Amino acid sequence: MGLAVTSQHVARQLGAGAEPTALWSTANPLERPGVKEAVEFAIRSANLLLGWLPRRGVFLARKAVLEVGPGQDFGFPLILIGLGANVILVDRYLAQWDENFHPIYYRALRKVVTKKLRGIRKRPIREVLKHRAHQARGLRAIQQGLESVDQIADGSIDISYSNAAFEHLAQVDKAIEQLGRITKPGGLGFHQIDLRDHRDFNRPLEYLCLSEGEFSAVLEASSWSCGNRLRYTEFFEMFEQAGFDVRFKPNLLADDEYVRDVRTRAQAQYQAMPIDALRLVSGRFFLKKRRAS
Ligand SMILES: C[S@@+](CC[C@H](N)C(=O)[O-])C[C@H]1O[C@@H](n2cnc3c(N)ncnc32)[C@H](O)[C@@H]1O
Repeated sequence: MGLAVTSQHVARQLGAGAEPTALWSTANPLERPGVKEAVEFAIRSANLLLGWLPRRGVFLARKAVLEVGPGQDFGFPLILIGLGANVILVDRYLAQWDENFHPIYYRALRKVVTKKLRGIRKRPIREVLKHRAHQARGLRAIQQGLESVDQIADGSIDISYSNAAFEHLAQVDKAIEQLGRITKPGGLGFHQIDLRDHRDFNRPLEYLCLSEGEFSAVLEASSWSCGNRLRYTEFFEMFEQAGFDVRFKPNLLADDEYVRDVRTRAQAQYQAMPIDALRLVSGRFFLKKRRAS
């Protein structure tokens, strides 16, 4: 049976008495409504990644994988470790072990994972369950923003991955510079970015109408949970500048009439952008780190 997800659950996940500065106002909310959905999400994410890699799972063996902003659970990275990878997690608001959620979740994942992913070892899932903590061989979790991961060595990451995390970064240029520094020449990156104003998905471009001052206040108040309002064209340029060959595959478009209306109300820099920079409100970046010529 799925675990009902409540706001109390989220509060528990944060831990009573946590530092206010360490709180994301919606800190790692349970994105999926229950255990079953969360298990399916981890397996689907792993299968997606395997589909993009050369020689699927074989490619993962002994590779160093970085996940940025893993969120509520570490099911996806534990699957990758079970397939032979070593994983580093980087999250400014790293999810803490929740005795009311994680044991139920990891037991449910352990139950189905071998049927869904050929050749997977369950050892990493068993280890976190045994330790009742996110501790497993091959897993390193860093509670820090991607912007400041100076301790990760230059050129040490083979594959980077994120889902709905880059729109929450506070200093995107600095974070992408770090990603460029730590990725090996030839290394790959897969980053799904949700470019909508998270305050109201039905009006996904409203934040483009706010002045710098107004938007800074919204960002601060929401700890960047509303999204940093960078457009895909700006991400594209930053990834290129950090040394990546870049491909962007959009997977959500805003309504044409709404986009035209917002363009008349948006701040000048957004009015000047090509219409596609506003229309494309979600998509995945596929990166390959250039080799020095
Ligand atoms: C919307 S959640 C997505 C979580 C997960 N990837 C998923 O799909 O469910 C955004 C994640 O980014 C993390 N995050 C926010 N700021 C960050 C930063 N500066 N560096 C790394 N992660 C960050 C959040 O703590 C959270 O885990």
